[in-house]
Amino acid sequence: MAKVTFFSGQQLPLEMHKVRIIQKLNLLPIEQRRQAMAGAGYNTFLLQNADVFLDMLTDSGVNAMSDQQQAAMMIADDAYAGSATYTRLYDKLVELFGMTYFLPTHQGRAAEHILGKSLVKPGTYVPMNYHFTTSKAHVTEMGGEVLELITEAGLAVTSDELFKGNFDVAALRALIEDKGADAISYVRIEAGTNLIGGQPLSLANFRETTALCREYGILTVLDASLLADNLHFIKNREEQCRDMSIKQITAEIADLFDIIYFSARKLGFGRGGGICIRDEAIYKQMRALIPMYEGFLTYGGMSVREMEAITVGLDETMDEDMINQGPLFIEHMVNELDSRGIPVITPAGGLGAHVDAMRFLPHVPQQQYPAGALASALYIASGVRCMERGTLSEQRDPDGTEPMANMELVRLALPRRVFTLSQVNYAIDRISWLHQNRDLIGGLRFVEEPEILRFFYGRLEPIGDWVDQLVDAFRRDLGDSL
Ligand code: F0G
Repeated sequence: MAKVTFFSGQQLPLEMHKVRIIQKLNLLPIEQRRQAMAGAGYNTFLLQNADVFLDMLTDSGVNAMSDQQQAAMMIADDAYAGSATYTRLYDKLVELFGMTYFLPTHQGRAAEHILGKSLVKPGTYVPMNYHFTTSKAHVTEMGGEVLELITEAGLAVTSDELFKGNFDVAALRALIEDKGADAISYVRIEAGTNLIGGQPLSLANFRETTALCREYGILTVLDASLLADNLHFIKNREEQCRDMSIKQITAEIADLFDIIYFSARKLGFGRGGGICIRDEAIYKQMRALIPMYEGFLTYGGMSVREMEAITVGLDETMDEDMINQGPLFIEHMVNELDSRGIPVITPAGGLGAHVDAMRFLPHVPQQQYPAGALASALYIASGVRCMERGTLSEQRDPDGTEPMANMELVRLALPRRVFTLSQVNYAIDRISWLHQNRDLIGGLRFVEEPEILRFFYGRLEPIGDWVDQLVDAFRRDLGDSL
């Protein structure tokens, strides 16, 4: 991807790849979109993909593969044990991260399951810059407690801080001194911090946080699922790193950690996951769980084709022109929305553009899930599927009280290399229309609320008749067909 100055004076992202395989999309008329949303219980996870025009739910497992990845899939070596495909993946991981041991898993949360079972002792803490839904669930499942030690800027919706994902090192030191190093199972650092808007950590902060852990002999774990975006931001935003290659930055970060795990549904434009480990004893402890929960040690639940694609995808991740596609499109989207007065997380992060539903819908109380309501309204108004990342994505406390999320966000993820700029511009236009008509949007309430990870398959309904009013307004302004 390049950022090019056009004759008009505009600076726009320009694709440095061409599209050689296409998939036809379907844009349903608004009446059918309204019905599809009702049928899905106002939960965008429950929509059928055939009813979705632009799927901005996630970038997980839906990034476009390159011709090189597809070609590699054809030479995959099918074997239950000892396949050459596994060796190629292992070698690539050693080359990039420099750790001796690797355990394959079927996806990122499976790696978290293994980590939780092996490392989390009941009654201990797992400090993180910020939690991710599945990483928190696996810690609490084992009786550990997640503590979020993000810097203050990380939770500010708008900020000039370029590294909002940074760990609050002073808070970590205070915690260690208060509870003692033994009360901490490990420290987890999430690159490209997902739930606060795909926000990066600086290399300096990676260094400082892990140095503190080393001082106290605390195990350090990197969640590298969103590392690619973080690498791009370090190279482009951190003065001292401007002349380093992406590969050099990767090696410097990897050197700081005891364990690196990842969802290859994000990292490496693939599908799968795994855990890289430095220490032999920890490796042996985790190894016992892989054949039990994932598959044999040389595939861990992944198909060999997926593993070949990851190996090539990891190489492509070392190419700045490949990994900047997401961030540059996101920056375009964030700047356009911001210039129209629409509240978005700034500065632009990785993963997707994040709209602040709390400020978009100030009249909808948090108990009525403003981000969930906005996500439903956006699908009805556009056929674009996005994801609620707010109170719905939290789980209830053991005593049944419902914690309110720090932020109510609507995430418009931009899977890598999938959309064109005109499709992104369509989404911007429809969000702008919704913003003009925001007073019409009301709240939601649960009809069916699962106990664990409720956002995945809970069902809701609108409070009042706001959906009818929204559809009428859309017809008035934009007609009946699209
Ligand atoms: N860690 C992070 C930072 C993630 O973003 C994800 C997944 C996982 C772990 C779990 O990996 O899905 O392969 O099991 N994030 C997806 C998303 C689901 O939509 O943001 P997984």
